[in-house]
Amino acid sequence: MFAENYRSLRSIRMDLAGVNLFIGENGTGKSNLYRSLQLLQAAVRGNLAHEIAAEGGMSSALWSGSRRKDGPVRIRLAVELLDQERAISFHYQVEAGLRPPKASAGFAFEPMIKTEELAVETGRRPVTMMKRAGPGVMVRDADGRMQEYPGQVLTSETAVALLGDVGHYPEIGTFRQAVGAWRFYHGFRTDRNSPLRAPCLAVTAPLLDEDGGNMAAVFATLVHTREDTVDLDRAVAQAFGGARVVVPEPGETAEFGLIFPEFPQRIFQPRELSDGQIRFLGLSAALLSYRLPPLIALNEPEASLHPDMLAPLADIIARAAETSQIWIVTHSQTLADAVRARCGVKPRRVIREEGATWIEGMRLTGTLEDDDE
Ligand SMILES: Nc1ncnc2c1ncn2[C@@H]1O[C@H](COP(=O)(O)OP(=O)(O)OP(=O)(O)O)[C@@H](O)[C@H]1O
Ligand SMILES: [Mg+2]
Repeated sequence: MFAENYRSLRSIRMDLAGVNLFIGENGTGKSNLYRSLQLLQAAVRGNLAHEIAAEGGMSSALWSGSRRKDGPVRIRLAVELLDQERAISFHYQVEAGLRPPKASAGFAFEPMIKTEELAVETGRRPVTMMKRAGPGVMVRDADGRMQEYPGQVLTSETAVALLGDVGHYPEIGTFRQAVGAWRFYHGFRTDRNSPLRAPCLAVTAPLLDEDGGNMAAVFATLVHTREDTVDLDRAVAQAFGGARVVVPEPGETAEFGLIFPEFPQRIFQPRELSDGQIRFLGLSAALLSYRLPPLIALNEPEASLHPDMLAPLADIIARAAETSQIWIVTHSQTLADAVRARCGVKPRRVIREEGATWIEGMRLTGTLEDDDE
C-alpha cells in the first residue's frame, strides 16, 4: 500500500502482513494512515470525490509541506492485492488533483481524477487491464486488446468503479469486490440514541455495518443461523465477569440483552449498558460475525475500554486474524502487547519527521528492517 501527498502522508509505502499493528502518539498520523486505506476503498467503490469533499476538499487534504518541483501536486494512492484463491495479484493506482480554476466553478471542493491504472499479474509480468489519463480510458477487452472505453467517464469518478460495475471486465469486477469488502471500524457511537442501543430490522446479517447499526441482527445470525456462539460467549463472559448474551427469536426486529451473574433473573437491555460495554459488544460483532471481511481495520479500538477488557479484545482480534487481514492503530501499549503475545507481530511505532508521518524502522521500499517474529 502506498500513499503520497495526503495530509501528513508525504510519501509512505507499507508492506501489509496478516496482522498490522501501529502504535503512536497523538497527531503522528495514525488516523491519516487509516483514512488512506478508506480512501483507496472509496476510489474503488466510486465515491472518492465525495469522501475528499466531505473532509474539506483538496486544499485541506493535500500535504501542506514542501513539494517536489517537477510535477503537479496530486494525492496518489496505490495498492497491491494478492488473491490467493485465484493466484493473481492486482496492482491499482489512482491520482487525484486539483481542478483547473476554470473548470472548478460549482465543484471547487471536488478532486479531479487525473490518472488510474489497474494491472493483474498471474505469475508472469503484470498485464495492464485499464489505464486512464484524464477523461480517456483504455481497457483490455475479452480478446485481450486494449481499446478505448466508449462510454463517458466523469472527471470526478474513477474508471475502476465504473468498469467494475459494467460486468464486461471480470478482473476489474473481482478487484472491485475484494477492496469493496474491506471494513473499517472507528469509535462506535455510545450515546443514548446510538444505533448499537436500538433494535434493528431482523434480516440475516453476516457482517457488521460500519456504524454498528445491525449489531443485534449480527448476534441473532450467530445464534439462530449459525447456531454457534462459542467465541461470542467466551468473549462476553471474559470481558463482563461471567455475563451472557441472550438473543430472542427475531420477529420484525432483532434484539439482544445481557444477563449478569449478579442478577440472574433480569435481562439488561442495550440502553442500560455502559459505554464501554456497548463498545466491546460492537467490536465483538465486528470481529466474530458470521462471515468476516477480507480486511478489518480498527482505529483506536481501545477507546473507553478499561484495561481489563483489553485481553479479551486481543483474544477476539486473534480469532478474527485466523481468517481476515487485520489492521489496527492504537494508543494502548497494553493492547499492543496483548495482540503481540497472541499473534506474534511486533507493534510498529508511528512517528513524525519534519511534519510527515513515518514508521520507525521502515525502509523507503516499505519493508521493515527487522522481520516479524
Ligand atoms: N494537509 C495536511 N498536510 C500536512 N499535515 C496535515 C494535513 N492535514 C492534517 N495534517 C496533520 O495530521 C495530523 C493528524 O493526523 P492524525 O489525525 O492521523 O493523527 P493521529 O495519529 O491519529 O492522532 P490521534 O492519536 O490523536 O488520533 C495533525 O498533526 C495535522 O497537523
Ligand atoms: Mg487518530
